[in-house]
Amino acid sequence: MNLVIFGPPGAGKGTQSKFIVKKYNLFQLSTGEFLREEIKKQTELGIKIASIVNSGLLVSDDIVAKLIEKTVSNKSYKNKIIFDGYPRNLPQAKNLNRILDKYNQKIDVVLKLSVNLDTIKKRISGRFTCSICGKIYNEFSNPAPKNTNCCSSKFLQKRGDDTVEVATKRFETYEKATEPLLDFYKNLNLLKVINGERPINQIYDEISQIMALIEGWLYIITPYKYAFETLTH
Ligand code: AP5
Repeated sequence: MNLVIFGPPGAGKGTQSKFIVKKYNLFQLSTGEFLREEIKKQTELGIKIASIVNSGLLVSDDIVAKLIEKTVSNKSYKNKIIFDGYPRNLPQAKNLNRILDKYNQKIDVVLKLSVNLDTIKKRISGRFTCSICGKIYNEFSNPAPKNTNCCSSKFLQKRGDDTVEVATKRFETYEKATEPLLDFYKNLNLLKVINGERPINQIYDEISQIMALIEGWLYIITPYKYAFETLTH
């Protein structure tokens, strides 16, 4: 199963992706995390990316497109990818369809987490990420456990783009460039809109129900699809 999770900054895409990855043994392709890794390396490209990310804009489509094809073409991840933060505009959505098609794959569902700007500001200003294991925490809603080696305060980091000003700019970028994708995926009959204002576990329960339905459906149609493909090739 391949799925896309999208929503405004701080909607909970990364948090929910990590749960889904664990339960369904998927690969999380987070373009944001990929870009942050590049920034950490302090390469010429990394420095250029940092200035774009920290101003709340999108990096160029070409930079992320290479990563997408590299992952989709990897046989170990075939039909096992959760796209977190990609696509973010119409050209990226079309590019994703083209690449998936090339490798005989498709998107099974698009999950959209809806959250308003006030919630976003609060979540982003309270977010910390563990630099060792990548777990995401929140000072207000999801504090890191005490007495752990890995996620202790000395390893918890704040992101460079996690200020209220940049988050507001990111939200504007999201509304302008990414929101129009709702219609694109609605027309393909793939969109599920989820109320992201609720507690983490309630959102995850709803996602699990959606995933179970799709899994059941795929379980029924896959043998027929395989037989059809064998007969027609
Ligand atoms: P990216 O890293 O993708 O950032 P984003 O889309 O802005 O999303 P976030 O990572 O901020 O939030 P999230 O939805 O994952 O929320 P999280 O689970 O952490 O991208 C960063 C930048 O990279 C972009 O701005 C752009 O410049 C560039 N970029 C990335 N992809 C690109 C692309 N495809 N093309 C071009 N440029 C690209 O949760 C947030 C906080 O809230 C956490 O503290 C968490 O604990 C807490 N929380 C989560 N859920 C809940 C809940 N239900 N209740 C209470 N608290 C919650």
